[in-house]
Amino acid sequence: MSKGPALVAELEGLVGECAARLDQALTLEDLEAIRVEFLGRKGRLAGLMGQLPGLDADGRRDAGRAANTVKQSLTGLYDARLAALSRAASDAALAGFDPTVPGLAPFGGSLHPVTLVTAEICKAFSELGFTIVTGPEIETDYYNFEALNMPPEHPARDMQDTLYITDNVVLRTHTSPLQIRTMLAQKPPVAVVAPGKVYRRDSDLTHTPMFHQIEGLLVDAGVSMADLRGTLTAFVRRIFGPRTNVRFRPSFFPFTEPSAEVDISCVLCGGKGATEAGTCRVCKGTGFVEILGCGMVDPNVFDAVGYDTERYTGFAFGMGVERVTMLKYGIGDLRMFFENDVRFLSQF
Ligand code: PHE
Repeated sequence: MSKGPALVAELEGLVGECAARLDQALTLEDLEAIRVEFLGRKGRLAGLMGQLPGLDADGRRDAGRAANTVKQSLTGLYDARLAALSRAASDAALAGFDPTVPGLAPFGGSLHPVTLVTAEICKAFSELGFTIVTGPEIETDYYNFEALNMPPEHPARDMQDTLYITDNVVLRTHTSPLQIRTMLAQKPPVAVVAPGKVYRRDSDLTHTPMFHQIEGLLVDAGVSMADLRGTLTAFVRRIFGPRTNVRFRPSFFPFTEPSAEVDISCVLCGGKGATEAGTCRVCKGTGFVEILGCGMVDPNVFDAVGYDTERYTGFAFGMGVERVTMLKYGIGDLRMFFENDVRFLSQF
């Protein structure tokens, strides 16, 4: 067993030895091993301190003091080396990393273009005072046809290739049944727009069995064709820009009289009928593209819902949302709406 001075010397020797070992430590694991060896509960410092009780009083006092000083030194050396190694580790992790480079944007979802344009159209009309209504996609013959002035055997039923569920129940072929449902539920004045899915037995490059329409209906005393023209012209300019020209062409629908189709000046050639590439591919050289169908509500429709035809007149219109969207965004292929290719969808 060491005498006091010898133990003090041994204790002090630990400091130099530990410092040398710490200098060599390159990893946090190395460091931990050194800590355990020197400062651990069964480490070398503890071992030497275990000899204190065997010394005389003076020796115990001197060696005890030395042990405390050594312990502080060892702890200080260890802490300093730990800090240095930690800094080196984080510097290494940051090497080659430029914190000013912009991060990758997380992939966020986006609304389908048909949803976006539906919302935009509804907003335009609601700002004009129209209310938004919706109704069932599965309809009875009565709402889809009969009340809209298309009795059984009416030839106009063939205009729409209907998908039948039973003889009397159909997938609605247009949103016009909402005209009937709205007028049966409320008295004039009425101003509604009705967005929704419609179905037809039709599938080729320009038709899909399901597509989206928006119906409009306005009924009050004294509503005229001029109101129809003014409302739809304002709407079209809102969606396609203030310089859009509008043309009303006579047409036929069983539930409106007179009826018209609305054309707007071509979104690609601006109405000139040609682009630098030659004849305009969107309007086929005509300068106009069709955008919706409309007309003054036929008195037979008012009769079906019990509106006073002497007192009230009204107009109705219907448009295909995919068509409006294709024209607005210059989308050439209807199928893109249904393929759900994220590269397409994320552009809107
Ligand atoms: N329902 C007609 C269609 O689907 C569009 C339309 C609605 C026409 C309202 C006139 C009035 O073709």
